[in-house]
Amino acid sequence: MKNVLIIGSTGQIGTELTLELRKHCKGGNIVAGYIPGAEPKGELLETGPAEITDIMNDRQIAGVVSRYKIDTIYNLAALLSAVAEAKPQMAWKVGMDGLFNVLEVAREYGCAVFTPSSIGVFGDNTPKDRTPQDTIRNPRTMYGVTKVGGELLSDYYHIRFGVDTRSVRFPGLVSYLAPPGGGTTDYAVDIYRAAVAGRRFECPIAAGTFMDMMYMPDALRAAIRLMEADPDRLIHRNAFNVTAMSFDPEIIFENIRQYVPDFDMGYRVDPLRQAIADSWPNSLDDTCAREEWGWQPEYDLDAMTRDMLSKLQARIRV
Ligand code: SER
Repeated sequence: MKNVLIIGSTGQIGTELTLELRKHCKGGNIVAGYIPGAEPKGELLETGPAEITDIMNDRQIAGVVSRYKIDTIYNLAALLSAVAEAKPQMAWKVGMDGLFNVLEVAREYGCAVFTPSSIGVFGDNTPKDRTPQDTIRNPRTMYGVTKVGGELLSDYYHIRFGVDTRSVRFPGLVSYLAPPGGGTTDYAVDIYRAAVAGRRFECPIAAGTFMDMMYMPDALRAAIRLMEADPDRLIHRNAFNVTAMSFDPEIIFENIRQYVPDFDMGYRVDPLRQAIADSWPNSLDDTCAREEWGWQPEYDLDAMTRDMLSKLQARIRV
């Protein structure tokens, strides 16, 4: 990885991944791709090139890839699960037509492609506990449909055209910089913001609902490490189960209360998000990622809570 294009660089993952890649890949161009209305600002704008790359415009993507001699594309454009249910047609366009554009450009210019998949590929009759790598993928959400379709299409491009496609099934990602927006796991970000702001938190997900989660620094390491992994060791490609922790709202609430004793939480369950959460695994088995490319998370719930609270408090002070 030397010259990298990040499509969706101003989103939740893109903001941090772009900065991390600029530290990690010295001497190359790490291009922040964005769409009008979501321009990069501050450090993201100041530390490297930025170009308009609308995922719906394959010639625009090809122009940037050719100009910067891009060898790796991180395709991060997506609508998260709850938004995708509100706008299923748009979710298909971005998730499937957009991915098709990226894969075609990658085929033409010989680029590797990373496209995040998700726990959203699983559905009601997938085994819920320690969900295996290779198992039933039958989501009933448009988000899940596009993620399963994306996994299949990415594998197809690898097998048929030799495009170096790789992916992980991210769980809920917790971060303090850019907000996620419209996901089912977002409560695990919002709860920290409420705790630091001194607000009571109304949780949209019911007590007892377990989902996999991961702190953003681990997610960034996963995305970078997988793309640098020895291809000869990869039995799987699209996409690897990865996880760092699994908890329900009560567990994260109690963990935060150790550091913010006055913090208060009640429940106002959102039926749409709850139905999506109920269809997702309680916990993933990520043995294949550990064995095939050395995946190893660093943050557990308590380490994440301490870091989130201190980073959010520091931002409030600034
Ligand atoms: N975080 C995503 C969502 O909740 C799942 O991959 O939509």
